[in-house]
Amino acid sequence: MAVDKTAAKKNKRLPKLDLIGADRSRHEVLSPVLQEHFLGSDRTISILEAGCGRRWDIDLGDVEYSLTGMDISKEALELRNANEGDLDRTIVGDLQTAVLDSDEFDVVYCVNVIEHINGAERVVSNLFNWLKPGGLLILAFPNRDSAFGFATRFSPHWAHVAVYKHIYRYPHAGEPGYNPFPTYYDKIVSRRGIHDYCNAHGHRIVMERGKPHDSGRMRMLAPAANAMFNVLHYLSFGAIAVDHGGLVFVIEKDGEARRTMSSAGSTLPAHTPTSLPNEVCNVLQ
Ligand SMILES: C[S@@+](CC[C@H](N)C(=O)[O-])C[C@H]1O[C@@H](n2cnc3c(N)ncnc32)[C@H](O)[C@@H]1O
Repeated sequence: MAVDKTAAKKNKRLPKLDLIGADRSRHEVLSPVLQEHFLGSDRTISILEAGCGRRWDIDLGDVEYSLTGMDISKEALELRNANEGDLDRTIVGDLQTAVLDSDEFDVVYCVNVIEHINGAERVVSNLFNWLKPGGLLILAFPNRDSAFGFATRFSPHWAHVAVYKHIYRYPHAGEPGYNPFPTYYDKIVSRRGIHDYCNAHGHRIVMERGKPHDSGRMRMLAPAANAMFNVLHYLSFGAIAVDHGGLVFVIEKDGEARRTMSSAGSTLPAHTPTSLPNEVCNVLQ
């Protein structure tokens, strides 16, 4: 196997990565960060969930918010609206090409999406564009430079579907709107990629955490997967990370402008968790 020594050297210059404990979930880590950030806010916070999942897991406590969901898959949005009905606005759109107002959202939440997009840097640029100055981008994805990311990148999509179907026993594996979705893992889908992007564009990484490989469903594949991951780690001279599979970032857009944020009001309707499915707006081009 070819060893990328340059990548190993570069990774040494990144700050130490703190890990989310195996007993903690991503939303348990993110909820207090967001609650504290918006503590005392007397207005409705506007949130874009970019690439919708089956449910909104973040607990914002007393913070009033409005939730917009955007996804390229109409089926995924229909499932979300049918099962949860928690979106105030639903947009069928491609995160690469959708045209939304600039500086619109206080929070953009994009979890396990950019690894599926061929052209992920353009998506990250759009997410920052749609965010208000001083707003927070929550970005999480499997690290392409982790053993998990490496194994996923170099295995075919049908194998991912087979794992979901036969090992995770996921009944709708690979059907429209259901996991697993095809993966691309552009270069930005990594620690180095996000750090370089933020340095180049003046955004501030407020929090960064690694999520261990053996958390969640990966436990079902251990110890075989762990043995394979350790082999990859040593063969790559440490360039392929084995202590985590996923990354979670909280990134502040243009920190200088943050002071003006609390006075800007949202024009979106207040979040009502029990609201019925809303009008679906299609911005696919
Ligand atoms: C693995 S799912 C993750 C969903 C959710 N964020 C979660 O963590 O449960 C990826 C989602 O991204 C959506 N997606 C993929 N490419 C997209 C694109 N170019 N524009 C918008 N959504 C996209 C898929 O349709 C899918 O719903």
